Amino acid sequence: MRLVSFWGKGGVGKTTCSASLAAGLSEDGMDVLLLTTDPTPTLSDVLDFPLGSEPSKVNGFRGLWAAELSESAVIEMWKERFGGEVYEVASSFLPVERDFIDYVARAPGIADQFMLYLLHEFWRKGGYDIIVWDTPASSGSVRLLRIEEEFYSHMNDAIRMYLKLKGFLERISRGRRDPLALIEEWRSIARGIMDMLSSDSHHLILVAIPEKISYLLTLRMRDELEGMGIKVRALVVNRLLRDCKCDKLNRMAEIHARVLEEFKASFNHVRVIENIDYEPVGREGLLRFYDYLRELV
Ligand SMILES: Nc1ncnc2c1ncn2[C@@H]1O[C@H](COP(=O)(O)OP(=O)(O)O)[C@@H](O)[C@H]1O
Ligand SMILES: [Mg+2]
Repeated sequence: MRLVSFWGKGGVGKTTCSASLAAGLSEDGMDVLLLTTDPTPTLSDVLDFPLGSEPSKVNGFRGLWAAELSESAVIEMWKERFGGEVYEVASSFLPVERDFIDYVARAPGIADQFMLYLLHEFWRKGGYDIIVWDTPASSGSVRLLRIEEEFYSHMNDAIRMYLKLKGFLERISRGRRDPLALIEEWRSIARGIMDMLSSDSHHLILVAIPEKISYLLTLRMRDELEGMGIKVRALVVNRLLRDCKCDKLNRMAEIHARVLEEFKASFNHVRVIENIDYEPVGREGLLRFYDYLRELV
């Protein structure tokens, strides 16, 4: 199964591109799962259909399912999936009560981290031809991947430490599950997520607008992502102005043309989308916008 993700700072068009691509591919006959991990999602508004944290079939589109993984729902799901395990491991060498789970669940990064886990679960289970992932604004998403990497290396430390304490832990955790086995399992989950993101079936697309600051930010994001072994497949330069009737906009259009050349010199696959004069929302607007995104993946 393929995964397509859109990255870039807030307001550049990630949600519009994600929803439009997902809508277009579903009209072309694919079964598409569209997910947003934006903590303040706008996907329901763009699709004009109410979404929850479980995928639901979106009315009016052929094969489109979508979900908004909201932070609070995700924290509850985390407690269900990992809360008990974290308690088991921690309580095997710390004097903690069960409310420790709530404490950990609210720790910074847990929800972000778990969203990646949920995404990976959808990917692993299959059932769709393609998953389209609308990511939150840039810095947050990159930080979230770093957390994933750090988590992974902390697990190595935890295991080394565990081996030192193994004899002791075996005496006190008799009859319970082996904490080492749980830590090993978390480690393989973290690795699975990084493998998914750096695999050939992940098609990562950066979205930017044709202005200098966006250009510089986008270069930085590419470096950060590629530094983590995640390749950027294409760049969308969105909201380009050209041939405007008014002088003021024409001066903007000149700037856009110049910055677009810089983008083209720095990226291999550049897709240009004009500043449009309709709202890219609902079935009609999204499918119209899809003309700009055909054959992008
Ligand atoms: N090519 C375009 N021309 C005009 N408006 C656009 C274009 N692409 C997106 N927009 C508008 O820009 C705003 C921000 O887009 P959005 O997709 O929500 O960005 P992001 O998800 O990156 O924050 C929305 O109101 C959207 O309708
Ligand atoms: Mg958005």
